[in-house]
Amino acid sequence: MRTVTKDNITDVFNGYFSDDTDPRVKEVLTSLASHLHDFAREVNLTHDEWRKGLEFLEWAGRITTPERNEFVLLSDVMGLSSLVDMQHSVSGATSSSVLGPFHVSNPPPLAIGGDMKRDFEGEVLLVEGHIRDMDGNAIPHATIDIWQTAPNGMYSSQDPDQDINSFHALMTADENGRYAFTTVRPVSYTVPNDGPVGGILDAAGRHPWRPSHLHYIVTAKGHRSLVTEVFPDNDPYLDQDTVFGVRDDLVMKYVAQEAGSFPEGFALSGQVPDAYSRVDFDLILAKA
Ligand code: BEZ
Ligand code: FE
Repeated sequence: MRTVTKDNITDVFNGYFSDDTDPRVKEVLTSLASHLHDFAREVNLTHDEWRKGLEFLEWAGRITTPERNEFVLLSDVMGLSSLVDMQHSVSGATSSSVLGPFHVSNPPPLAIGGDMKRDFEGEVLLVEGHIRDMDGNAIPHATIDIWQTAPNGMYSSQDPDQDINSFHALMTADENGRYAFTTVRPVSYTVPNDGPVGGILDAAGRHPWRPSHLHYIVTAKGHRSLVTEVFPDNDPYLDQDTVFGVRDDLVMKYVAQEAGSFPEGFALSGQVPDAYSRVDFDLILAKA
């Protein structure tokens, strides 16, 4: 088609595919172009705004590194990451939630009952739970990859004072699907907001805070891997997570425990005379 107009450009675009284009590629690109064109028409996008958008993407590309992917962060704050998560979560299984950029590969192994807090300041948090399938059966020997911020709100890869494995661990549940560890209570923190995505948050009058959480990736043979998080029920940012990651079934009570009540069976047993908190978080995996 030679005569392209603002009204037919979407159809012209759709006519440019070759006959052997993969049908899914064609479906996704057709829909993307159609929404993109409608968006430009709907807001009557100006040259200036179009240029600013491209400069935004260029800046995001410039500051993206293996440790900091500004495009993932953009997807997160726009709600796209969470929408895709929710579209593919299985009813009856534990909800999935954002991965975020701070997972490390090859985290250090931690035995059941092991400790991630080490010498960091803050209240001890005891975390315990079971991994089960959707029929309520224990999944023996599931692998649980756990990570969180230090009490200063920083992940190891953001903080020169922590080694890369700090507050990262890989645990194998026992034959009953049980896992347990101690750590320090995580804190609310801000997503990186000194780049172009921070500019979007500012322009929209939005804050960059996430409610405190522990990240999990649970994997077990024959089951779908689950990327998720657990949040305390009293965090001030629960109702306004800037990356939309909170789901009802991921919000748990962190129960205060009296001084002198710390149990046996943990690396810290006999070393926690003070009050501490405890959260029980069971996870349900869907079949693969
Ligand atoms: C996180 O929870 O680690 C995270 C998620 C999305 C963007 C930034 C951080
Ligand atoms: Fe996080």
